[in-house]
Amino acid sequence: MRFDHRHLLGIEPLRPDEITTLLDLADQYATYNRGRDKNAQALAGMTQINMFFENSTRTQASFELAGKRLGADVMNMAMQASSIKKGETLIDTALTLNAMHPDLLVVRHPHSGAVDLLAQKVNCAVLNAGDGRHEHPTQALLDALTIRRAKGRLHRLTIAICGDVAHSRVARSNLLLLHKMENRIRLVGPPTLMPAGIDAFGAEVYDDMREGLRDADVVMMLRLQKERMDGGFIPSEREYYHRYGLDAEKLSHAKPDAIVMHPGPMNRGVEIDGTIADDINRSVIQDQVEMGVAVRMAAMDLLARNLRARPKTVMV
Ligand code: NCD
Repeated sequence: MRFDHRHLLGIEPLRPDEITTLLDLADQYATYNRGRDKNAQALAGMTQINMFFENSTRTQASFELAGKRLGADVMNMAMQASSIKKGETLIDTALTLNAMHPDLLVVRHPHSGAVDLLAQKVNCAVLNAGDGRHEHPTQALLDALTIRRAKGRLHRLTIAICGDVAHSRVARSNLLLLHKMENRIRLVGPPTLMPAGIDAFGAEVYDDMREGLRDADVVMMLRLQKERMDGGFIPSEREYYHRYGLDAEKLSHAKPDAIVMHPGPMNRGVEIDGTIADDINRSVIQDQVEMGVAVRMAAMDLLARNLRARPKTVMV
């Protein structure tokens, strides 16, 4: 098994065979998670610290569960209550935590690049749980596993990623991963929500949902990220739903067996109709949550193997 990385900061540095290695291991953990006795020891003796500088429900909970199911000591830092509020810089906080000798540091931060910067200052393995609009690698990996299990393969699929692409680290990481695995990717949304130069990533861009969804195997919806907008991106939520919200009629343009995905949290009635989200014949949104725990277990297991293989160095 080859996964020669010290950190998991993004999809960008991963090779296709490394992605497959990680997904294969995650598949085993998905089976394991459905069993009653969850007492694996891959992270036994290790300390995992979760530092979330931005709100999170699914990602933080699943990283915590993943660590505990592998036998790690897991600590969640309450970043709202931490010294960051007193003006301590990110790097000072990281150095302080580093002095407590964690083995794994899971970090979410509102600024793109902040997690990479932090990884340069600590001597443990760092996992990016989402940095600004940049990357969210474990989300793309859990999406890939969900697709592979639902479709039986992860190549030569037509995948429509729809909505607020411009503000989405989920879209960016998915685009990188699905492109590496040789899928056909369509980005669908209003031009105001498409990042400049996006065609360079090898995706087709559509501003019409029906055209963008035509014969798609996978329809991946994105949350409208209002917190990252400073006004003027969409006329109104009603109008947005009318043109870009996924409802039964728009979905009928995709393949009859197309699956519907959403990373959560969902704005029902804004980017997706609630009945589509809840339709167990189409929606794999709950599978995504389930695969999230398995993928995070696999990622931490692989990084921990690399940690154990290297002599421990102490950074001063
Ligand atoms: C995403 C995120 O935080 O980037 N959510 C998640 O991790 N499940 C997507 C979002 O916030 O819309």
